[in-house]
Amino acid sequence: VSAERGGFEHFMLKEIHEQPRAITDTLRGRLAEDLSSVHLNELSWTEDFLQSIDRIHIVACGTSWHAGLVGKAAIERFAKIPVEVEVASEYRYRDPLYSPNTLVIVITQSGETADTLAALRDSKQKGLRVLAITNVVGSSAAREADDVLITWAGPEIAVASTKAYTTQLVALYLLAVYLGQERGTLAEADRNEVLNALAKLPTVAEKVLDSAPLIEKFALDYQDARDTFFIGRGLDHAVSLEGALKLKEISYIHAESYAAGELKHGTLALITEGVPVIALATQTELYEKTLSNIKEVKARDAFVLGVTWAGDEELQKSVDEVIYLPKTSPLVAPIAAVVPLQLLAYYAAVVRGNDVDKPRNLAKSVTVE
Ligand code: G6P
Repeated sequence: VSAERGGFEHFMLKEIHEQPRAITDTLRGRLAEDLSSVHLNELSWTEDFLQSIDRIHIVACGTSWHAGLVGKAAIERFAKIPVEVEVASEYRYRDPLYSPNTLVIVITQSGETADTLAALRDSKQKGLRVLAITNVVGSSAAREADDVLITWAGPEIAVASTKAYTTQLVALYLLAVYLGQERGTLAEADRNEVLNALAKLPTVAEKVLDSAPLIEKFALDYQDARDTFFIGRGLDHAVSLEGALKLKEISYIHAESYAAGELKHGTLALITEGVPVIALATQTELYEKTLSNIKEVKARDAFVLGVTWAGDEELQKSVDEVIYLPKTSPLVAPIAAVVPLQLLAYYAAVVRGNDVDKPRNLAKSVTVE
């Protein structure tokens, strides 16, 4: 059994460590070697369709939905196409507004989630083109969608999704750049920045694993916490939703993610002495704003674990502990920043003696409604 887990104690830890390799595999053959462009030869879109897309609906569940939130930011920035992201169980039961040139993107690791498949089928029935981003080559989503982008994460066994999420993000960044490049909306500076950062991601993901001992200590110190809050702005908010979900799923500690600027509209009432707050501050343009939110929770004696880039000297003055991410572009920060959050959930579950790979009440794939 241990051989199956590659010497790791749990599948989840093994899968967290497989992320550098999974990212490499998802980039392979898609990112040009000279880092000048992206090629998605698997798409069967005509030039006319590619140019005509006027809105995008991203539909998914759980962690895949969280990946969609990052995808929206990337597509809107690089391709300038308006994107809506919605959980499949909501999307399928309302009448979303669409145009004949709406592209529907379903994101599903397993390719078998019932609500996501229903959204896929409804969309096809309306005559919309559907692109599936999935990790399973022969899955229902892969077979039924018009086009497929495979995430090459390899089989994911642990219920809590890790490498599937990071590779979904990679696929979405590639897609966003591709759309922008083909439609002429991608700024050159953005192209250079994001493609260089994508190429370096496997190394970044490898290095960020070094923060494990610090995170394990934090998990040990806070194993009796009842509530935890994750705060951030922009892409940090998107990734903190995933961090909070991971923690809930396997440690059973209540966790909430808040857009940092929204704290004062309610959640601040719950911040009292010693309440753990995980604060992400990777978005340079929003840094000062986030910092002032961090000071607000610190003023209420929260215990703050900050996450920022190596080289930052400011954050440590306002928080209790800092996790430093190897420096890369803030545009791709979620792929680096999610790794310590996955480790935090993992160690919090381990110290509480939980069944890490098979958390109570949850299934790897929800194939019935
Ligand atoms: C279940 C899993 C989650 C997953 C979600 C969506 O809830 O436990 O990890 O994110 O389903 O699954 P999918 O296969 O569609 O990405």
